[in-house]
Amino acid sequence: MLDQIKSTAEFIQSKITIQPQIGIILGTGLGGLVNEIKIKHTISYEEIPNFPVSTVEGHSGKLIFGELGGKQVVAMQGRFHYYEGYTLQQVTFPVRVMKFLGIEKLFVSNASGGVNPNFEVGDLMIINDHINFFPSNPLIGKNIAELGPRFPDMSEPYNKVLISKAKKVAQENGIKVQEGVYLGLSGPTFETPAEYRMVFRLGADAVGMSTVPEVIVARHMNIPCFAMSIITDLGVEGKIVEVTHEEVQHVAAQAEKKMTIIMKELMKVL
Ligand code: HPA
Repeated sequence: MLDQIKSTAEFIQSKITIQPQIGIILGTGLGGLVNEIKIKHTISYEEIPNFPVSTVEGHSGKLIFGELGGKQVVAMQGRFHYYEGYTLQQVTFPVRVMKFLGIEKLFVSNASGGVNPNFEVGDLMIINDHINFFPSNPLIGKNIAELGPRFPDMSEPYNKVLISKAKKVAQENGIKVQEGVYLGLSGPTFETPAEYRMVFRLGADAVGMSTVPEVIVARHMNIPCFAMSIITDLGVEGKIVEVTHEEVQHVAAQAEKKMTIIMKELMKVL
């Protein structure tokens, strides 16, 4: 795996002239942040050796290099999901590559279902912790010491300094933010009412099908992480209605502007 990571990073380095400081992974319906990036280079996933190719609607599949809020960034427009049939190692491969491109921090966005009864559709939630409910862990297998330790610490999965800066930025811009625990599971089914209840009782505030594998791998490599979720539907008793991917994308696109402001302003104060 190490050889693949290094050769993919070398391929990308041969195509770019900037040195990204921040990696960004954009979730479902949240690709619009790239409109704020002063783009220098775009590389489609298809062109990149060893990269999987994204299959789901609403994920266009490009690596975008440029400047955002005065920082050099690499953004993944479209991510890989476990439910597409990739292994968790494949899902997280781009995070490994971004580390070798030199990123010092990882920003992640996603759409999720809110299970906290105080949440509303369209809310933003800063993720302050997670529960790995995927059937596996991306670090299963022989550990590569050059990447990180066999038994990585997970006492601060989401960087506290970044969280407090983000809350300040949200407040200064008059944007309401929730904060809470994200439970990641495989999908592709949305949850049954009993499963939403279980997720809440397990201690989570929101549930989705991404982010946890990428953050585990980033923390393995000691990259500080910041993640935000858009609550696109509610898994709260009495408020559960039919969920569709279209509705998730629609709500995400509507709430995206608020998230974009926070991400961009946060870049400026790093
Ligand atoms: N469950 C899981 N994933 C999701 C949801 C949900 O309710 N909404 C958006 N992604």
